[in-house]
Amino acid sequence: MFFDHLELAPADPILGLTDAYKADTNPKKINLGVGVYQNEHGVTPVLKCVKEAEKLLLETETTKSYLPITGHPEYGRLTRELLFGSESPLVSDGRAVTCHCPGGTGALRIAADFLYQQHVASRVWISDPTWGNHFQIIEAAGLKTERYPYYDRANHSLAFDRMLDTLEQAQEGDVVLLHACCHNPTGMDPTPEQWDEIASFLARKKLLPLIDFAYQGFGKGLEEDAYGVRKILERNSEVLIASSFSKNFGMYNERVGALTCVCANKDACVKATSQIKLTVRCAISNPPAHGEKVVINVLSNPDLRSMWEQELKEMRERMHRMRLLLADKLKAVGAGDFDFITTQNGMFSFSGLSKEQVEKLRAEYGIYIVGSGRICVAGINDENVDYLANAIAAVVKE
Ligand code: LMR
Repeated sequence: MFFDHLELAPADPILGLTDAYKADTNPKKINLGVGVYQNEHGVTPVLKCVKEAEKLLLETETTKSYLPITGHPEYGRLTRELLFGSESPLVSDGRAVTCHCPGGTGALRIAADFLYQQHVASRVWISDPTWGNHFQIIEAAGLKTERYPYYDRANHSLAFDRMLDTLEQAQEGDVVLLHACCHNPTGMDPTPEQWDEIASFLARKKLLPLIDFAYQGFGKGLEEDAYGVRKILERNSEVLIASSFSKNFGMYNERVGALTCVCANKDACVKATSQIKLTVRCAISNPPAHGEKVVINVLSNPDLRSMWEQELKEMRERMHRMRLLLADKLKAVGAGDFDFITTQNGMFSFSGLSKEQVEKLRAEYGIYIVGSGRICVAGINDENVDYLANAIAAVVKE
């Protein structure tokens, strides 16, 4: 018998919630678990620009042959334009390579495999709290992990001083995993001044930044959200960035992400590219094409590009509106002061609800929230917000 010793693994704390939500028969149930955008009708739509690009693709695609190991070079160039700005020399001066990976998760895993296999580093510092999957991905690759404090729960703010104090213990050559914007799960991002300090700190301590950039455009805007990445690049010559088009293109199931490796010079980049290609070849051989071609079509066609920016803006503004509405409703029903929700960015709000309160909301109200108290604000709409606010008030008052 080979498999009879296996233990039952727990359900995934985020994706497992979706299964439980689907099985729930409560007609008032609300899914605020997984980080997937929902419109005002509770639907996760295919963006219009994506539909248009797909039509174009259907008409013009002539082959389904393999892509290069790193994906189409144009996809890499367009990704770097978004990351660094179209005027940045890094877009095409040969110091940076971009490799299409299946989603932001795929990019993180390829980055971790590359770091471990090439003995670039052995230890990665990760924010506490963070996206639940970070530890698993990094450790599955063989790297060690350490935690740095990030969030002050009592004051609902960034624990900036404690973060840098703890990172003082990092050794030269260690990696620091940062969230470029819309920190998952807290929604709290460093201010521009704090990013400036982080950038100088990393350079002084000779630490390698690994930046998870899964939500570009969901915070303040495409350019604004890239502030931290660009600042870090001003002061640090070597950086890894895992980006994702799952959220900002709404292409969750197409698995469209990218790993960008910025090197100190062109020669180092040629060598890094060759090793990243080996890593990809062992893991997935080469990337899936559909989502990548859609991204290329949208970003390189001026009409589709402006349609995308408009749709992205609408998603961003709707999520912000729902934050304001929820904070107002919570105040109105006497749940307390939840104004901090309105200062957080992006898709997630760290509500401060305890594990017990989260469990009660699920069992008694059919409201699904991640155990840490993280709420996906995209699941809120005008129809369900009163029910939600009353339920939260009931559990916090107990
Ligand atoms: C989330 O944090 O909910 C998303 O990034 C989806 C996931 O894979 O966990």
